[in-house]
Amino acid sequence: MQNDVLTIEQVLSDWARGAFQAAFPDSIPDGLSVGVVPTADERFGDYQCNAAMSLAKALKKPPREIASALAAAARPEAVAKAEVAGPGFVNLFLDPAWMAGRLEQLGDDPRLGVPGPGRGRTVVIDYSSPNVAKPMHIGHIRSTVIGNALDRLHRFLGWRVIADNHLGDWGTQFGLLIMGFRHFADPAAYETAPIEELERIYVKSYERSKEDPAWLDAARAELVKLQQGDPENRRLWQSFVEHSLREFNRIYERLGVSFDLVRGESHYNDRLPGVIERLEEKALARESEGALVVFLDDEKMPVCIVRKSDGAYNYATTDLATVAARAEEFAPDAVIYVTDERQQLHFRQIFAIAKKMGVATRLVHVWFGLMRLPEGTFSTRQGNVIKLERLLDEAQTRALAVVKAASPEMPAEQQGAVARAVGIGAVKYADLSQNPQSLVTFTWEKALALDGNSAPYLQYACARIASVLDKYRERFPGQDPAAHPIRLTEPIERRLAVRLLRFPEAVVHAAEAFKPNLLADYLYDLAQTYSTFYQNVPFLKAEAGPRESRVRLCELTMKTLRQGLSLLGIETPERI
Ligand code: ARG
Repeated sequence: MQNDVLTIEQVLSDWARGAFQAAFPDSIPDGLSVGVVPTADERFGDYQCNAAMSLAKALKKPPREIASALAAAARPEAVAKAEVAGPGFVNLFLDPAWMAGRLEQLGDDPRLGVPGPGRGRTVVIDYSSPNVAKPMHIGHIRSTVIGNALDRLHRFLGWRVIADNHLGDWGTQFGLLIMGFRHFADPAAYETAPIEELERIYVKSYERSKEDPAWLDAARAELVKLQQGDPENRRLWQSFVEHSLREFNRIYERLGVSFDLVRGESHYNDRLPGVIERLEEKALARESEGALVVFLDDEKMPVCIVRKSDGAYNYATTDLATVAARAEEFAPDAVIYVTDERQQLHFRQIFAIAKKMGVATRLVHVWFGLMRLPEGTFSTRQGNVIKLERLLDEAQTRALAVVKAASPEMPAEQQGAVARAVGIGAVKYADLSQNPQSLVTFTWEKALALDGNSAPYLQYACARIASVLDKYRERFPGQDPAAHPIRLTEPIERRLAVRLLRFPEAVVHAAEAFKPNLLADYLYDLAQTYSTFYQNVPFLKAEAGPRESRVRLCELTMKTLRQGLSLLGIETPERI
């Protein structure tokens, strides 16, 4: 793990801070954020520093004068030119020879220049977390895909990640389920499609409970027996959990998702009374209308019930026990929860109460909006609950048609394998390429488009580069491109080089902001820039030297796209 590498943005930020400190002694704090950002338009440089505007007030100097001090300072090797622009921007232009040297180093670096800022620190990521005996809904799918990308990003950045699937495996539904199971279960259906069967049983039992008070009483009694550890009810409950997990695991396997821990809510059951004790000890909880509640007036939030008037603990109690247990067991630097937007208040309350209870860990709720599914998108769906497996089947079928059209001569078996990677990749990317917090409408056309911001487009770009490289090897056997230096002569080569050098920043930013879409945006931009490069400079027809330099840029682009997609959990088949 290379802990000491810095991204270009960091190098330039450190330099700018140092230069400001030298120019304005004692006026610039050490940790000052100097706002060096990559530019979108290369006419304004490759990076831009916009600190002068915000420093103007404190320094009581016009922003352009402050900017000029930076532009006039001794520049790091990386920077060829620094120019003051507009009200006080400093536009920084990278030096092409320096860029070429850095790209050559990246060619030998399996991490492609990405630093390891995690430095072995621990983060618990709580994601997927579906409920036992119920099918995963679209929210769990998004949590799985987004959570897994955050998991991969953090691992790559050197964090110790504990991916914890916090199953909803405890709750009042188990009384009705046990009653229903004893009376209506179809053993064959339970073996082949357990969740569907459990759902059917539950609905039937629930309906019965509405017309038959004796049934409801019996269900309540079964729940109490379960909670008190009755062996028969425990055994049934265990079987529900195992059967549900078997189905969830099939989905995780298809999605390439795995967890370090699969601890359900039940795991924390014994700790619930302790939570209440701690809250009472610290005088944080009070009786209110028979329930025990925590008042959060200072935080401007509604009260949070931690024990209901019937004495039962709830979702909040469990999450408080969970966060305390995680803090104790793993001493994490952060805990990240990935769920849909409807749980925002819940987590704000939990985080506030946990802090009052003395949990010092950084707690982050990464929430996402619900994805809209246009009518008829999925062949099997009921309201918001789609059958994920059907969705993945459909994705693969549709991807197979795309692959067959693109590569009719490919052996059928290989077409199938490619269609799997493309179909699953398309579904994941449709989700990951969007700002998690914006409203997304899923369409197959967009998800599978070979010419838009989609997984197939990026996967196809990789495969095309691979075949260009094959052609090069065929035409120039025994040549080692690395024997020739990288030279950035054409403007499009330079533009591609800037993109390649920004990969580390894209990875760091995506993880820091908990937004995999920042990495997706980067990859799409890189692939588009590459395609312009490939269409506009002679390649195999170029003379020796520029040709090898371009081969090296191609290879780096392919490695970067592959690495980036793999951080999003998306496979890249050799051929499409
Ligand atoms: N099982 C919950 C649900 O389906 C999500 C759990 C999220 N994690 C947590 N620690 N509360 O809504």
